[in-house]
Amino acid sequence: MVAETRLSADQFVLPLFVRAGRKLRQPVKSMPGVFQLSPDELLAEARRAREAGVPAVLLFGVPDRKDEKASEAYAANGVVQQAVRLLKRELPDLLVITDVCLCEYMSHGHCGVVRRGPAGARILNDPSLKLLARAAVSHAEAGADVVAPSDMMDGRVAAIRAALDRAGFVDTPILSYAAKFASAFYGPFREAAESAPRFGDRRSYQMASPNGAEALREVALDIEEGADLVMVKPALAYLDVLYRVKAEFGYPTAAYAVSGEYAMIKAAAANGWLDERAVTLESLLALRRAGADILITYAAVDAARWLQEMAG
Ligand code: PBG
Repeated sequence: MVAETRLSADQFVLPLFVRAGRKLRQPVKSMPGVFQLSPDELLAEARRAREAGVPAVLLFGVPDRKDEKASEAYAANGVVQQAVRLLKRELPDLLVITDVCLCEYMSHGHCGVVRRGPAGARILNDPSLKLLARAAVSHAEAGADVVAPSDMMDGRVAAIRAALDRAGFVDTPILSYAAKFASAFYGPFREAAESAPRFGDRRSYQMASPNGAEALREVALDIEEGADLVMVKPALAYLDVLYRVKAEFGYPTAAYAVSGEYAMIKAAAANGWLDERAVTLESLLALRRAGADILITYAAVDAARWLQEMAG
């Protein structure tokens, strides 16, 4: 009765990776329990999550074809668009959030358009906005409930908001990856999404880990541009940022326990060095204590079941 913070499955979002095919469950080596799924398997996985009490999924696409304009990111029949239509038809009360980014769809693996010049390659911010906006609109057309831009280009929330409104999706909320740090904790995700940059890194667009005040400025900009919910990512190594974001803005705030956080717990548990269940729940509770309303975690289904068991 005196617990100040509570953990509950209805705060969880399960990230899922979808790729074309049938009956495909391709394990991600560095993330035990996580798979690249074909749409039929994705539906089965989403159904299990729903039955465990997890209300929402976050979709990432692994396209068969990549190019230098991320065509598959906004193709009407792209793999994410197909998956959204299927999920919304079969599980209408499941909240479907789509990750909006270009890196999985670009042959070079960057989150924006790249121009190569004599001084090396550069990411072009503004030309990337059009493609991101097209991707977001195509997700909304497929039936996505919420779009979540993770690219970290400047001005993308405003561009996506304007494009959604123009297309008639005035009620589709934007969950902005507002404070997303350039982090080594994304390593396993890049295997899962096949999105590692072919050259360079993401430090020209993602945030520098020493900077907490800058993270607040990034969040303020995204809110000004029309973000409805904001995110801090990664989670455990950025609890101070999470706390400050919630305290400063009071917005619905999501924390993303990223692939590396998940992999660390799984690896230690596999060796018998940590109690997986206790450590997972303690970590998620820490995010709640720091101010998160929404917890994005690859352990969502297990955690939901553990909470059920503990409730008897
Ligand atoms: C795409 C994106 C990334 C993650 C979510 N969206 C990877 C990156 O920025 O390199 C990472 C998620 C995770 O590690 O679990 N931009």
